Amino acid sequence: MEKEKEQREEAILRMALQKSGRLHDDSLKLLHEAGIRFSNGQGQLKVRVNNFPLELLFLRNSDIPNYVRDGVVDVAIVGENLLVEKGDDLEVVLKLGFARCHLALAVPKAVDYPGLSWWNGKRIATSYPHTLQKFLKEHGIEASIHTISGSVEIAPNIGLADGICDLVSSGSTLLQNRLKEVEKLLDSEAVLATRPGLEPEKQKILDDLVFRMKAVLTAGNNKYVLLNVPNDRIEAIKKILPGMKSPTILPLAESGWSSVHSVIREDDFWEVIDQLKANGAQGILIIPIEKMVI
Ligand code: PRP
Repeated sequence: MEKEKEQREEAILRMALQKSGRLHDDSLKLLHEAGIRFSNGQGQLKVRVNNFPLELLFLRNSDIPNYVRDGVVDVAIVGENLLVEKGDDLEVVLKLGFARCHLALAVPKAVDYPGLSWWNGKRIATSYPHTLQKFLKEHGIEASIHTISGSVEIAPNIGLADGICDLVSSGSTLLQNRLKEVEKLLDSEAVLATRPGLEPEKQKILDDLVFRMKAVLTAGNNKYVLLNVPNDRIEAIKKILPGMKSPTILPLAESGWSSVHSVIREDDFWEVIDQLKANGAQGILIIPIEKMVI
């Protein structure tokens, strides 16, 4: 029993993060908001968290799926696009809602694109050969794939390829290189991924971490709302604002009025505000929520 306790106390979860790249900053921000405290000096690649059984390893993005698979690390924050390409045997534990982008096929702007058949016999440059190969096969397209590890967007301009398959986020890279998107292969966002069959003591730490991350992500998707309402409109307002259980209703000093407190989803925000105003609500305050446990 004592030994088990010791083992439990010693257990540590190892997490891979991008050393640099589109996920790096938001990954650190999420960990910080989840109360994970550490100091990573310039260029430090391995960091022990001070207040949670977690060790962080800052690794090259494209190597991360292999490290998770081989057990060098237990979990990782990576783009779904990378999992599809190199880690489809790994498990997505939680979608993290940042670094949203998609993988797309693009051609030079001047091309009069008739549809997928255009790609037959063409050369396509990409850093995602596996995902592209699968897509082409599914659509019965015979094309040659040129795998390059970066600056894919330059390939058509230097005669290396007829088109590209690359990540698109804002679209500015395509625009700058006089390319246009013609087909979408998949949507992607940052995810927390692990390998199947994690040891129970590590799984417990992962569950604790996921609980914290969910509290941060749920809070980010919701707002706290306070408003003043004439008492005869409370029932109508309650239908618009169901709240987590039901809204809090407190009497105001001015008779005939109440203060209503509730939580609304960020996505419903403007529609809900319009309905509240239409029902006589006044003095509407919207407040960000730091953490939310449901
Ligand atoms: C991707 C992709 C493009 C760019 C597209 O590169 O390869 O270069 O982002 O983004 P945009 O639509 O906002 O312009 P990433 O930054 O992931 O780095 P990479 O070149 O190492 O893939």
